[in-house]
Amino acid sequence: MSINFVELEKIARAWTYEAGDKIKQSIANPIHIEAKSNPNDLVTEVDKAIELFFYEKIQENYPDHQFLGEEGIAEELTSLEGTVWIIDPIDGTMNFVHQKYNFAISVAVYQDGVGMIGIVYDVMSDEMFRAVRGSGAFLNKEELLPVLERPLHESIAGLNARWIVSDHHPFQNPIKALVRDLRGIRSYGSAAIELAYVAADRLDGYLCVMLSPWDYAAGVVLLEEVGCKISTFQGQRLSLLEPGTVLAGKPQLHKEMISGYLGEEL
Ligand code: IPD
Ligand code: CA
Ligand code: CA
Repeated sequence: MSINFVELEKIARAWTYEAGDKIKQSIANPIHIEAKSNPNDLVTEVDKAIELFFYEKIQENYPDHQFLGEEGIAEELTSLEGTVWIIDPIDGTMNFVHQKYNFAISVAVYQDGVGMIGIVYDVMSDEMFRAVRGSGAFLNKEELLPVLERPLHESIAGLNARWIVSDHHPFQNPIKALVRDLRGIRSYGSAAIELAYVAADRLDGYLCVMLSPWDYAAGVVLLEEVGCKISTFQGQRLSLLEPGTVLAGKPQLHKEMISGYLGEEL
């Protein structure tokens, strides 16, 4: 049976608003914080509760759909066959913990590896970025227009400043050169919000040396719907099963960032 993704997005959006309310309610309470892979990789019980909330909704309503979430509530996913929900319950947990602002819920639905629904909900500013493949992208009720290009030296891009100073990866010099040549760099602390900002023309591009599928799965659908590009630093299609480099931008800028800076064989 074929799925009506426009209708499914409405359901996913309603669940996302519900999850956003749960996060807002939790903010008044003390939050238990744990570190994961390193002291800066944080998780709270709210991240886990929100992932469980989506997992249970999906299990109950669509038992044949698959689930991939950051906090690992479901079994590990090995294939993208069928309908797959890819969820980051809180993208920007460090902001959630420190600022109680600038974090998002990221929800994507893929069909046999193709992104069909992308939702990025900036909870505290109540901005709902959403798209269904082929049906346009929206910020709340406003349709997002196809993006306008700017030359690289007049463009601003999202980047976590840590990647400029870290030399544990081979992109330090190309990133430094790009930072010098762009008009400006912005760092919001949530990859999902930064990708949504590119789709909404608030940023011209975004780059990150290491992201996981749940950070960008929804962003991919938003970006492609407004004519932007998203790929690895080498211009390859992003994996939805493995982490990797991520480069997003308006088509010409994306091309120039690869050819002039990041895409060299290393
Ligand atoms: C993080 C945020 C951050 C990015 C990190 C991600 P999390 O996600 O998107 O902006 O720089 O690489 O891990 O851990 O807050 O869901
Ligand atoms: Ca994330
Ligand atoms: Ca997260």
